[in-house]
This record gives sequence, structure tokens and C-alpha cells, in this order.
Amino acid sequence: MHTVEQLQEKLRSALNTINYNREPIEIYEPVAYALSQGGKRMRPILTLLSCDMFGGNIEEAIIPAIGIEIFHNFTLLHDDIMDDAPLRRGKETVYKKWDTNRAILSGDMMMILASKYVSKVDTSLLKDVLYAFNKAAGEVCEGQQYDMNFETAQHISIKDYLKMIRLKTAVLLAASLEIGAIIAGAGNENINKIYKFGENIGLAFQLQDDLLDVYGKQEKFGKKTGGDIAANKKTYLYLKAFELAKGKDLESLTKYYTEKNIDKEAKIRTIKEMYDKLEVKLHVEKEINNYYSEASRMLAEINIPDVNKKELINLADKLLVRDY
Ligand code: IPE
Ligand code: IPE
Ligand code: MG
Ligand code: MG
Ligand code: MG
Repeated sequence: MHTVEQLQEKLRSALNTINYNREPIEIYEPVAYALSQGGKRMRPILTLLSCDMFGGNIEEAIIPAIGIEIFHNFTLLHDDIMDDAPLRRGKETVYKKWDTNRAILSGDMMMILASKYVSKVDTSLLKDVLYAFNKAAGEVCEGQQYDMNFETAQHISIKDYLKMIRLKTAVLLAASLEIGAIIAGAGNENINKIYKFGENIGLAFQLQDDLLDVYGKQEKFGKKTGGDIAANKKTYLYLKAFELAKGKDLESLTKYYTEKNIDKEAKIRTIKEMYDKLEVKLHVEKEINNYYSEASRMLAEINIPDVNKKELINLADKLLVRDY
């Protein structure tokens, strides 16, 4: 078994061997820029951890894991255009640094590179790995569309929101683990369970991301805080506030999320004050804990020695630690 740190190091050196010094530079420069900034690289680590945990050879999983990370970075290039986000990982987003057209085309190229790397598995596994990858990739797009639809939709329930974040975020974490397990030759039952574990961790993770978008410290979070409020995102926080607010507060929540030509900073401040007053943070934290418990239950059911699960549990703990 490898530690998370050892896997991170392996991943780093494998990523360093990829050369993006190619023509036309307008496409490859943003690719190199996005991939050189790191981020948590949690999805490829999940693939490697899962492969290791089920007794597979992690060398066989490194290139596909890199493919998944490139896919994730592709989604971010397009997501930042869609969300009007100026900052990621503490740096200018690709469409801001260059322009939207370059972010679109570099993103498209990353999707293709991702597919190329994910396909580099033993031919006996190719069908299953590509199926898992394509299924998740398609679902991410569906989730992203729901996320956009919800900005202007009137009656979104918490159930709708959970379905949306399952698609846009959780399934990719789940598929990262699933692909590692497939490469390791884990049986179907265990593959399904590790997928479910990933789905639940993924839901908790997106809830946490939504929380950090309001309460995170920009320097640590690396993204512009308040961005979800500015973009009228119907997050769990907003929906919970909407459920709990009464009278003037309720009116104001609706007003700020529907009126155009509103001062963004005042809007962020007011909505945040409302969240504080209604203590929505506590509700989100409770929901995160529920999903974390459900994930743990899934992991406990996997029939391998407990010691093999240790690193995965450590990583999940670290990801969901309340670090504002
Ligand atoms: C950002 O993902 C998109 C979400 C699903 C919230 P990460 O938080 O994993 O981003 P990086 O790769 O670590 O920057
Ligand atoms: C992330 O949703 C989902 C995808 C990128 C597919 P967010 O829009 O919340 O992610 P961040 O906060 O910009 O990283
Ligand atoms: Mg975004
Ligand atoms: Mg988004
Ligand atoms: Mg976010």
C-alpha cells in the first residue's frame, strides 16, 4: 500500500513528463497553465488509491488517472466561463487571462487528451473503463446544464439541487474510484460499493464547496468568494435560507436573486447576513456529515482488510475538514 503523499509524488512526476510545448501555442499554453497550477488533484489520487486498495498495480492506473485530472481541468475551463469566475487556484482563470475562445478550444482539446489517456489501459479493460468514463463525462455536462437552468428557475427544491450536484460533481469522484477498481480487477460488487462511496463523498464535497464559496478565505480557497451568490446559484445554502426565511427576509432573498442591475457586493453582503441569521451553515454541515456517514457505511461493507482502506479514509477526512 502507498500513502497519499507517495501517490501525489508519482502523479506529479508523471504529469511533468507531458510536454505541451506544441503548436498552435494558443491551444496548448492554457492547457499547460491549467495543469501546472496543481489544485488538490483529488480525482487521480482517488483512482490510484482505489487501484492500490484492491491490490492492483498502480503503474497501470497512472496514465488513466492523469486523463481524469485533465478531464476535470477541462470542465473547469468551461465552468469558469459559464460562472463568470475571475479566479481559480489563486490565479486568473483561462478565459480572463486570454479570452473565451481560447478557453473553449483549449478545453475541447483537454477533453480529447483526457479520452486519449483514459484509453491507455490494458485492452481487456478498455470497454469497461471507457464506459465508466464516458458515462460520468456525459453526466457532468447534464449536471452543468441543470446548474445553469437553476440560476433563473423559480421553484427549485433541495431534491433538485442534490440531483444536480450528484451529476456535476459526485459522479466524477465516483468514476475515478470505479476506474481504479476496474484496473485492479476488483469484482462487480466491490466496484459498485466503491462507486457509491465516491458518490456520497462527492455530494459532501460539493456541499462543502458551496459553503466555502460563502465562508472560505479567498487566499486559501483560491476562488473569488461570494461568486455563487453573485451568479444566483441555487445552492443548498440559498434553498435552505429560502425555506426558513419569513416576511421581509423572504422577499429580499427573492429580490436579490431576480433583479438585474443590483450592486454585486451589496447583494453578497446582504445574502450572507441572511445566511448567518438563519444559521444555514449548521444545516449544511449536518448534511455533509450525513453523506460522510453514508460513505463510511459503504466503505465498511467492502470486503477487504481494513488496513487497505486507511489511506482513503484519511484523504476523505482531509477533504471534508472544516477549514475556512
Ligand atoms: C472544483 O473541484 C470543482 C468542484 C467540483 C467543486 P476541486 O475543488 O477538486 O478543484 P481543484 O482541482 O482542487 O482546484
Ligand atoms: C463545479 O461546480 C462543477 C464542475 C466544474 C463540473 P462549481 O461551479 O461550484 O465549481 P467551482 O466552485 O467553480 O470550482
Ligand atoms: Mg464554478
Ligand atoms: Mg459551476
Ligand atoms: Mg463552487
